[in-house]
Amino acid sequence: MYTNLFRQPYQAAPPPSKSLPPLDLQPPKPALSHSNSPHKKLSITGSSSLGLAATSNLHSSRASSRWSLQGMTALVTGGTRGIGHAIVEELAGLGATVHTCARNEAELSRCLKSWEDGEESFRVTGSVCDVSSGPHREKLVDTVSSLFNGKLNILVNNVGTNIRKSIIDFTAEEFSTLVTTNFESVFHLCQLAYPLLKASGSGSIVFTSSVSGFVSLKSMSVQGATKGAINQLTKNLACEWAKDNIRSNAVAPWYIKTTMVEQVLSNKEYLEEVYDRTPLRRLGDPAEVSSLVAFLCLPASSYITGQIICVDGGMSVNGFYPSHD
Ligand SMILES: NC(=O)c1ccc[n+]([C@@H]2O[C@H](COP(=O)([O-])OP(=O)(O)OC[C@H]3O[C@@H](n4cnc5c(N)ncnc54)[C@H](OP(=O)(O)O)[C@@H]3O)[C@@H](O)[C@H]2O)c1
Repeated sequence: MYTNLFRQPYQAAPPPSKSLPPLDLQPPKPALSHSNSPHKKLSITGSSSLGLAATSNLHSSRASSRWSLQGMTALVTGGTRGIGHAIVEELAGLGATVHTCARNEAELSRCLKSWEDGEESFRVTGSVCDVSSGPHREKLVDTVSSLFNGKLNILVNNVGTNIRKSIIDFTAEEFSTLVTTNFESVFHLCQLAYPLLKASGSGSIVFTSSVSGFVSLKSMSVQGATKGAINQLTKNLACEWAKDNIRSNAVAPWYIKTTMVEQVLSNKEYLEEVYDRTPLRRLGDPAEVSSLVAFLCLPASSYITGQIICVDGGMSVNGFYPSHD
């Protein structure tokens, strides 16, 4: 016997925004008196204009809290170049305090300085860290914990690498490098960050996956398998940690203009084939990925979890469009 079909979500999870009024199922009273007649102008009465002001204040405060990361903390791995760099700027631009990491100390220092000195003065700190190393990961999360008082709202597992080879040619070492850097690292970073994400009361994990996790791409069997594993982990985490109000989603790019793909795309014939395969007929920009990552971290996306969203100019849905009808 069902007594209540409309069960509430886990009680431990706080509502997404405390500033919203309690649920009111009555249709809102109109603040404006107007008619559909084209001859009558929209009129606002004295008292309802106060109502309008209140409503618009409510809307603007609601909008600002739903579309802002103000007061939130984030860890973004691999933030000194490419997609990770854009993610750091996107999250910091929306108000988050961000910690990032990379292996190259000089490049990290340059980035931190430019974020500090830049016009917007982003709040970003950083650590030198190789995420494929267990001790490095532990130190990274310890640093984040002390910087952010044991609470983390956002974990962006962005680092990933690639080795392009046919299946038969992969050495054991190359296989291990890809699996360790792309998958083992993100699995353990999630484990390490879990207490911090839970303590924040509202956590969000975003993975940088790839279309290679959905479809077969030439010479990318191992990288594709690691991204496929990330896609599945995204779903398991979403279900397992929902009770702690931690969401988990992934973004899956196709070719984005970064240093990682510079070399392969320097081959003009290859690049032409990429354009042919991409309905939007161009490469993506890092900022076109970071905008989706940010959306998935915002309170505005609070009911989205367990999703892997392609950022690919339509490549992954491209079927067969012959040039002749
Ligand atoms: N670009 C694309 O077309 C594309 C397409 C699909 C998916 N992706 C995915 O997007 C993510 C980012 O790629 P990207 O193209 O932006 O790469 P990128 O331009 O090469 O930048 C990689 C960033 O990660 C850091 N990094 C690399 N290995 C690291 C490690 N072991 N530990 C810590 N930091 C490390 C790099 O700094 P250091 O070198 O100093 O460590 C750098 O900041 C990857 O997961 C990739 O698989 C990219």
